[in-house]
Amino acid sequence: MIFIQIDDIEQAYLKVLCDEVFGRVNFINMIVVNMSNLSGVKMTAAINGKKFPKIKEYILIYAKNKDTYKLDIPKISKSKWDNEYNYIIPEFTREMYDNYTNSNGEIILNNIEKLNLVSLKKFLSEKNISDTLEWKIENSYRIVATKPNHSLYKRIINESFKNDLSIVKNASGKNVLIKSDFNKQTKTARLEIVFAETNNSIYLGDQWSDIVTTGGVGQEGGVFFPNGKKPEKLIHRILSSATQKKDIVLDSFLGSGSTAAVAHKMGRKWIGIELGDHAYTHCKPRLDSVLVGTDQGGISKGVNWVGGGSYKFYELAPTLIKKDVFGNPVINKEYNADMLAAAMAKHENYQYNPSPEVFWKQGKSSENAYIYTTTQLITLNYLTSIHSQMKENEHLVIACKTFEAGLEKAFKNITIKKIPNTLLGRCEFGKENYNLNIISVPQLDEEEEDNE
Ligand SMILES: C[S@@+](CC[C@H](N)C(=O)[O-])C[C@H]1O[C@@H](n2cnc3c(N)ncnc32)[C@H](O)[C@@H]1O
Repeated sequence: MIFIQIDDIEQAYLKVLCDEVFGRVNFINMIVVNMSNLSGVKMTAAINGKKFPKIKEYILIYAKNKDTYKLDIPKISKSKWDNEYNYIIPEFTREMYDNYTNSNGEIILNNIEKLNLVSLKKFLSEKNISDTLEWKIENSYRIVATKPNHSLYKRIINESFKNDLSIVKNASGKNVLIKSDFNKQTKTARLEIVFAETNNSIYLGDQWSDIVTTGGVGQEGGVFFPNGKKPEKLIHRILSSATQKKDIVLDSFLGSGSTAAVAHKMGRKWIGIELGDHAYTHCKPRLDSVLVGTDQGGISKGVNWVGGGSYKFYELAPTLIKKDVFGNPVINKEYNADMLAAAMAKHENYQYNPSPEVFWKQGKSSENAYIYTTTQLITLNYLTSIHSQMKENEHLVIACKTFEAGLEKAFKNITIKKIPNTLLGRCEFGKENYNLNIISVPQLDEEEEDNE
């Protein structure tokens, strides 16, 4: 799945673009999130009668395949009493509420006449109970809403065949009062009695205004980042609904490192990409403090974060090959000898690990196969001197800019390759946008993988 946060200037264009890329059928949600509060410079536009202050952004959610994805939608507790719940069953106890369902999920109330619904308001004032949210939530097992209305309830309860009445759970899990004419197929009922308890916590909707960006968010992870820093709580909500432990989370716009920090604390594997200097000034220090456990902000306390794990930090090298004024491919001058040797070892699938003793053993692929990269002209003398140091069963690849004619066949166990020619066609160089032409992916063994 992909989650993309965007502001209201770009969201319409991004939606169309994403429909094209991911398929319109794979669109799941457009969440509204708080990005600011009603204060500061944005209020001037309101004072001047120019603009409603902008405090929200959107998160577009797409699935790779709408038939196979799964979201775990969290439930949140009610912050406000829903006034639909305006009747109470005074004699109903918590035990009755907990025990009334039989193995078919039906609610057994043996003596239905006792289902005496009293107006909640009246009940509270008669009992001198103060009308607080806490009291209502505590008593929500006996507070109900009658749907479609209470007069229908009264009529049904007064009908002569009242013993036909019972309460069952309907298709959406709500308790409904039914008569014998209840349609078991369609699960329709003449009247619903919905217990406030069942609705005490409700599924989160697509408006996440409960998560705020104000308060301590600016300081989360110990790094200040003014542009679009996301609250850890927001990332936590996304990751807990769309991922499991050990899943891989990718954030290709890492910013101050929020996604990686949260993914790490939640036991997910992660990849973060950042082109700015804040890869060093923000992401790295933030993740280091997550690892040692000193980052106790954000979601740390909620997930009992004490530290642990590891990560690898990679830096993207500059393009290895550039074009000169004549359009010919040449080695980028930004590459010094070591960088070039490391790059050539990688391209040729050797492990770059220069031997301190033998200058031509810069990289190794198997026990006896080595690579040596140089920008010097390779002459017969030079090659002969290297060959004299080689054991019979050793093989060497020499990557060089130029060599004397005929040398490529001089020794059976020495292969000479010319750079940059040998690299052309294998990868793209010197472009703004690369087609992900991955030439070799390091294979981690299971043990190494588990330690990360
Ligand atoms: C809005 S910030 C992300 C903030 C982040 N979610 C956080 O909570 O800190 C976007 C980041 O994407 C980075 N960025 C933009 N284009 C990029 C690219 N092509 N590759 C990698 N990072 C890029 C920017 O440098 C910036 O740090």
